[in-house]
Amino acid sequence: MTETHVSSLAVGRLFDLAGKTALVTGGSSGLGLIMAETLLRAGVRVVIASRKQDKCDEALAQLQPLGDCQAVAADVTQPEDRQRLRDFLQQQFGEQGLSILVNNAGANWGAKIEDYPDDAFAKVMTTNVNAVFSLTRELLPLLGLAATAQDPARVINIGSMDGLQVPVVQRVPTFAYSASKAALHHLTRTLAVDLGPRHITVNAVAPGFFQSRMTDYVLREFGDDIAADSPMGRAGEPEEIAGVLVYLASRAGAYTNGAVIPVDGGTHISKGTRAWMEADQQ
Ligand SMILES: NC(=O)c1ccc[n+]([C@@H]2O[C@H](COP(=O)([O-])OP(=O)(O)OC[C@H]3O[C@@H](n4cnc5c(N)ncnc54)[C@H](OP(=O)(O)O)[C@@H]3O)[C@@H](O)[C@H]2O)c1
Repeated sequence: MTETHVSSLAVGRLFDLAGKTALVTGGSSGLGLIMAETLLRAGVRVVIASRKQDKCDEALAQLQPLGDCQAVAADVTQPEDRQRLRDFLQQQFGEQGLSILVNNAGANWGAKIEDYPDDAFAKVMTTNVNAVFSLTRELLPLLGLAATAQDPARVINIGSMDGLQVPVVQRVPTFAYSASKAALHHLTRTLAVDLGPRHITVNAVAPGFFQSRMTDYVLREFGDDIAADSPMGRAGEPEEIAGVLVYLASRAGAYTNGAVIPVDGGTHISKGTRAWMEADQQ
C-alpha cells in the first residue's frame, strides 16, 4: 500500500469538508439550523435561506461566531426569491461554485380527509417537491463549477420516513406530506441518474422524529407513542443528522448517488408493537 493510498483512507481526510461552500434552505431552525452549524464547524462557508428575516437574523446571531455564514430571506417556492438567492450565491461563491446544496425547507399539513384543503395540499407539494426541483435546476451552473470527477458537487434532499411508510402516530393524517416526501425520494433518484454524468451526486436523507418547530406539538403530546413506535425507543438526536450530512458531503460519500438513507432508528421497517417483547415485559 502506498503512502498516498494510506493517507486517503485516514478518517480525518475522508470526512474533511474544509473550504467547501454550501446553501442550506430552511437553515434558520430545526434540522436546517443543526446542519448549518455542522457545516460551519467543519470549515464550510454557509448561506442559509428561509422566508422570515427575523428568524434568519436570530439564526445568524447563533451561527456567525462559528464561521463564515450569511443569510438570505427567501421563499423557495417563489421564482423571484430564488433568483435573488441565486444572484447572492453567485456573488459570494462565484469563482468556486456551490459544493453542497441542502434542500431542507419543508412544509406540512394535517387534517381529516373531509377537512383537507386543496390549497394546503398544493402548498405542501410545491414546497417539498416543486421548489426542490426548480432550485436545483437553477443552481446547476454554480454546482457545475464546484464539481469534479474525484470530488462531485452534492445535492442532499431532506425527505422523511413518512415517505417510506404511512405515518401513524400523530393522530391526524398528513396526506400531502407523506405523498410529497415519497415524490421527493423518487425525484432524488431521477436527478441522481441525470446529474451523475456531470459529477453532481443527489441523495436524500429520510429522518424519523427529531425535535423541531415542525414536530414540537406531536413530540410533546404523543412522545410516548413516538418512542414506542421506534425499535430504539426514542426520537433522533442532532448529531445523528449531522453525521449522515457529513458523510454525504465528504470524500467518504463521493460514490453514493441516488440513495435514500433512513435515519429513523429503524422505525419505518418496524411493524408496531412486538407481542413477544410485550410478553417478556410482563
Ligand atoms: N423534525 C423532524 O422530525 C423531521 C422528520 C422528517 C423530515 N423532516 C424534514 O426536515 C426538514 C426541516 O424540518 P424541521 O423539522 O427542521 O422544521 P422547522 O423547524 O419548521 O424548519 C423548517 C424550515 O424551513 C423554512 N421554510 C419553510 N418553508 C419555506 C419556504 N417556502 N422557503 C424557504 N424556507 C422555508 C422555515 O423558515 P421560515 O418559516 O422562516 O420560512 C424553517 O427554517 C423538512 O423538510 C421536514 O419535512 C423533519
